[in-house]
Amino acid sequence: MGVVVKFWVNGEQVVAEPDRKTTLLDFLRETLHLRGTKNGCGTGHCGACTVIIDEEARRACQVRLERMDGKRVETIEGLAAGGRLHPIQSAFVRAGAIQCGFLHARNDHGQQGPAGSEPSPGSP
Ligand code: FES
Repeated sequence: MGVVVKFWVNGEQVVAEPDRKTTLLDFLRETLHLRGTKNGCGTGHCGACTVIIDEEARRACQVRLERMDGKRVETIEGLAAGGRLHPIQSAFVRAGAIQCGFLHARNDHGQQGPAGSEPSPGSP
């Protein structure tokens, strides 16, 4: 029997029993169907998979699910509370800062995390 992890995603508690290779990105997209978190490079370089974990911007493709116990995760879907855009999302709309949409998770969450919180590629 594997390790059981309990954590929160966008305010909802989730439980998982991951194998050692499962990443947070895999779980968000394939189990929770939160497809706003994208799989770009899968190596920690592009930022398309950026989420907030305990108030820090992190690359979900580099985070093993087995290490998520007790953590709080916010995805791009969690930014728009109650159907209202987050101020960062509103600012992007007002400025017409729209590209392909693939990197919005990185851009929106990258603006939220504290300065210097972005991990280097390969960090857990
Ligand atoms: S998918 Fe590119 S950094 Fe995670």
